[in-house]
Amino acid sequence: MASREQFSSKTGFVMAAAGSAIGLGNIWGFPTQTASNGGAAFVMMYFLLAFCLAYPALMAELVIGRHARANIVTALRHVAPSKPTRFLGTFIGVYGVIVASLILAFYGIVAGWMMTYLGASITDLFQWNEASQWLTSFGFTRNIIAMGIFMVLTIAIIASGIQGGIERWSTRLMPMLMLILVALILYVLTQDGAKEGLKVYLIPDFSQIKPSLILDAMGQAFFSLSLGVGTMLVYGSYLSDKEDLPKLGAIVTLTDSGIAFIAGLLIIPAIYVAQAHGTSIFSESGTLIAGPDLIFQVLPSLFNSMGGIGPYVALAFFILMTIASLTSSISMLEVPVSLASEETNATRRQATWLIGGVIFVCSALILLNFELLFTLVIDFTTVYSQPLLGVLLCVFVGWIWHRNSLLNALKAGSPHLEQSLFWKIWPVYVKFFCPLLILATFIQSIIG
Ligand code: PHE
Repeated sequence: MASREQFSSKTGFVMAAAGSAIGLGNIWGFPTQTASNGGAAFVMMYFLLAFCLAYPALMAELVIGRHARANIVTALRHVAPSKPTRFLGTFIGVYGVIVASLILAFYGIVAGWMMTYLGASITDLFQWNEASQWLTSFGFTRNIIAMGIFMVLTIAIIASGIQGGIERWSTRLMPMLMLILVALILYVLTQDGAKEGLKVYLIPDFSQIKPSLILDAMGQAFFSLSLGVGTMLVYGSYLSDKEDLPKLGAIVTLTDSGIAFIAGLLIIPAIYVAQAHGTSIFSESGTLIAGPDLIFQVLPSLFNSMGGIGPYVALAFFILMTIASLTSSISMLEVPVSLASEETNATRRQATWLIGGVIFVCSALILLNFELLFTLVIDFTTVYSQPLLGVLLCVFVGWIWHRNSLLNALKAGSPHLEQSLFWKIWPVYVKFFCPLLILATFIQSIIG
């Protein structure tokens, strides 16, 4: 077998893993959840769970991946000591691959919308009103073309491999994303109404903390760190044994949460700035507007009210959304592609186009039955499957993988780990606390 590709450097891995984590989940999901869960109290709970639950689960995926140096299915089989546990490994792996693919199927649709709004901000600049109208109205043809273009971009990057595809594009796109984000915040914070938004975002009202808020915060942390479906596992498998895993995992968690926080700093004040400009920001039930309306109605009306600079700000914002989506979607596609290209005779290129094509068809089917399938697929993948897979992966690391082998895998690249708090806490923590906590969330979300 040809030698397996790796990330060329620490930075390459961090950019790629942070690129996977930072996506619509941060810039759209997090502010939206914050708005519908009463502001700062949600923000605090989210940070608590991101570090106390999602980070340990992220470490579980990274350590399996780097140790086994393989796709999710082969990696889990590799660390399983017996026939039944290998079977369980195959089951979890295949389930993860299917869920990662289905996440891409709906994510590609939403990312497509970001691209149509990006297109509309360009046509607005030239005052091509009909084109803008078409680009911003919901229709099957528009949706499928936009999703198709986005899928082709995702496929093209993944077909080029780890260093030439994932690493190269993540290291180019991520700094751009951060620059655009900061520029937008600086602008929004100088506008009327921003202060009120900042208050909602930063001053907690603890009476808002309810079980449903904790549930939402946990789900959000899981989705945002791309956990459960093998994305981080496979990225870990391209990481050298010389690298310090707990440290890199912590950097990725910090970057992801940091960007979510900064995105909130942009979006929540922007909602109030939009109100100051006369846009209604409350839904019929009296809560702050959220969901698609936030990005596709409140923000565009804010951009419109900015006068001459508006279309440029809109352009920057939707470029930001498209970049963030792309560095995430490539990590989803890598999950099935790594399995197919390692376990069949297909070349990476063939596997990528074939699997990308199948996922395109799934997206098209969702678009054709939008009312029925769109939220169904989102719920099946993010609400139910991601937490369940998270439990299974923690159980795999904590209970099935031979403990000495696990500890050795963890130590590689971190010479002083045995003196650290991480070393004392994490192995026990991931065995008992993580599965129980995730399971509790999961049961909660079933019984509603
Ligand atoms: N973390 C990504 C986001 O926040 C979504 C994602 C989920 C990516 C699962 C990969 C796997 O948008």
